[in-house]
Amino acid sequence: TWTTTNVVEEQIALIREQVGTKRAICGLSGGVDSAVAAALVQKAIGSQLTCVYVDHGLMRKDESEQVEKDFVASTGVQLKVVDAEERFLTALAGVSDPEQKRKIIGREFIRVFEQAQAEIVAEGAADGEEVAFLVQGTLYPDVVESGGGTGTANIKSHHNVGGLPEDIEFQLVEPLRQLFKDEVRMVGQELGLPEEIVQRQPFPGPGLGIRIVGEVTKERLDLLREADAIAREELTAAGLDRDIWQCPVVLLADVRSVGVQGDGRTYGHPIVLRPVSSEDAMTADWSRLPYETLARISTRITNEVADVNRVVLDVTSKPPGTIEWE
Ligand code: XMP
Repeated sequence: TWTTTNVVEEQIALIREQVGTKRAICGLSGGVDSAVAAALVQKAIGSQLTCVYVDHGLMRKDESEQVEKDFVASTGVQLKVVDAEERFLTALAGVSDPEQKRKIIGREFIRVFEQAQAEIVAEGAADGEEVAFLVQGTLYPDVVESGGGTGTANIKSHHNVGGLPEDIEFQLVEPLRQLFKDEVRMVGQELGLPEEIVQRQPFPGPGLGIRIVGEVTKERLDLLREADAIAREELTAAGLDRDIWQCPVVLLADVRSVGVQGDGRTYGHPIVLRPVSSEDAMTADWSRLPYETLARISTRITNEVADVNRVVLDVTSKPPGTIEWE
């Protein structure tokens, strides 16, 4: 019979058998899948696992802390955090085109991750312990989408740190390959991961970098982080988290409009709320949120976030709109 306890026990046994006494690494994205995969492998092989988290500075408020503190606290995992904010912001300076932003973020991410990976491999080699495995949070739908197949694929990891072999082949550890998202959440719960991680809504890899229409700067990111935190806080307080798929909050950094606040004229930026309902993100409808919740979010954002004097609601379905604005 299928129970989360059985799945966890079975996977732990399989991971131990696969990895043996060697070492493994796992990249954490902040998302559910990589967190649950890492927690499962950690439970199986303990300190033989090292996780890597690349903080690109494009995360939402308290999100990196969630990985750095809550995840470590609940799993006891060895974590290598790479603070790469400056690197990403420098690479993004002057760039407004959405596709270019995505490419830059993807490229920098891989570079930073591979460098961290190479460092761990080098440390392992120094200890005489081979790092032979890469943990991935691949789910069953991902397996089906990419054409199926079983077993352990080998992927090549290109890197550019001196003193290491030209390319290292990792074997993949994919303990979630037979599971659907809701089952992964149940496994995460069984493993004692905090609710904020287990019930997390989707968030794009490029983060807030693709939620600022215009150039990405530290100042704009901080402003968007504040607005986004307010929207999330109010949605949670209203008990709406499970009713919506996700709610991107977008800063129109290149747009200004006239407003009035106190006794004075303002000339600030609009914030867009994009709450959507969806089954699989392929199509989506805009969520009919209660007016009172929208009103609270709007009032708080315009009162509490400097330079924002207008909040607008996106009432476009997908298609024709995508969920994200970029
Ligand atoms: P769109 O905007 O294409 O988004 O309707 C569909 C879903 O995918 C998420 N999304 C991403 N997730 N990396 C990700 O991991 C990305 O580059 C990315 N772009 C969009 C988006 O949040 C939505 O859930």
